[in-house]
Amino acid sequence: MDHSPLKIGNRELPSRYFLAPLAGYTQRAFRLAVRELGGLGLATTDLVLAHTLLHGSQKSLRLVRTAADDKPLSIQLYGGDAYTIGEAAKWLVDRGYEGIDINMGCPMAKLSRPKPAMQVAYASPLPNELTAIGGGARLMCDQQSAADLVRTVVEAVDVPVTVKMRLGWDRENVTAPLLARTFEQEGVAAITIHGRTRQQGFNGGVDLEGIAATAAAVDSIPVIGNGDVRTVEDALDMRRRTGCAAVAIGRGALMDPWIFRKLNDAATGMPLREPTPQELIDFLVRHFALMHIDEGDDVCRLFRKFAAWYGAKLGIPDDLEDRLRRFESRPEFEEIVSKIRERHGERLRPIPTALIKVPNGPIDKW
Ligand SMILES: Cc1cc2nc3c(=O)[nH]c(=O)nc-3n(C[C@H](O)[C@H](O)[C@H](O)COP(=O)(O)O)c2cc1C
Repeated sequence: MDHSPLKIGNRELPSRYFLAPLAGYTQRAFRLAVRELGGLGLATTDLVLAHTLLHGSQKSLRLVRTAADDKPLSIQLYGGDAYTIGEAAKWLVDRGYEGIDINMGCPMAKLSRPKPAMQVAYASPLPNELTAIGGGARLMCDQQSAADLVRTVVEAVDVPVTVKMRLGWDRENVTAPLLARTFEQEGVAAITIHGRTRQQGFNGGVDLEGIAATAAAVDSIPVIGNGDVRTVEDALDMRRRTGCAAVAIGRGALMDPWIFRKLNDAATGMPLREPTPQELIDFLVRHFALMHIDEGDDVCRLFRKFAAWYGAKLGIPDDLEDRLRRFESRPEFEEIVSKIRERHGERLRPIPTALIKVPNGPIDKW
């Protein structure tokens, strides 16, 4: 397996394991805390609405907040027309940002003749063949606007532009291979593919075959596989089975922020090491301290949503986890932490993925 640094356009990334964006979780504080553990190749911000960024909305400006140590970083844009996304990309690059990621969600409408389209999309993703079998007109139409969008952004900036998308509308309409190839021709530098369809939402398993078909459809740009990677073995397995050049990890990184360091160790033949309880508690404290810098007094309210996760990860006794869900001040946090240092591990249990809330039903953005 290739463990050499990966190039995305002119960017050389130190590892092939990336942090996938999780809106509300993977903001600067979390990114910095994870980077300090080592092994992270690239992080991407939560999705940022292009036009609100251009209008200087406080929320958008907070989402693009970064720091010298918060690199390599891509900013994820979505929403609005191609021109607006292009302008937002320019605005970012003028301020020193080095990578733009377009959240494509699922740009393709459901095709009128699903079955043949699926076969063609997997086997031979050529637009003229799709049109020839019928049912492709709408696809062509949507494909065209998606291609126009990425071209506009690619032409607007001189940094690598990447795209993150799902496999397609539903299992009968897996259009990602075709789109990936089209986007490559428009100058996109890499594609991240979440191996589920829009219809699936977060249900069912990740379709590794769909990721493999996408990786096979492009000529030379890296395809980054994504979805349900929780362990080092999951990430290596995804690379082996799909041929993807890199792996983006979202919920798995929240459950194990050390996963990037472990993958790095695996690549260099080092033995894998679990963090000690001391390191786990130090991570919690560091995450809180970094969030305090960003959020000021709001930190207590915002940090509470991590309580269940830290509770499970650290084996925090029920009464302390409950306090972590409700604490109101910094001194109270410090008091809870000193109790955790004494009593962690009283209640160790597996961390359910369900601790990270996902939308129900079909999903159009990510
Ligand atoms: C709470 C949450 C927020 C997310 N926010 C974003 C986002 O802002 N942009 C994006 O492209 N994907 C977003 N995603 C999708 C993830 O990046 C990823 O594609 C998906 O969770 C599957 O990967 P995982 O199993 O490694 O988490 C989000 C997912 C979750 C659960």
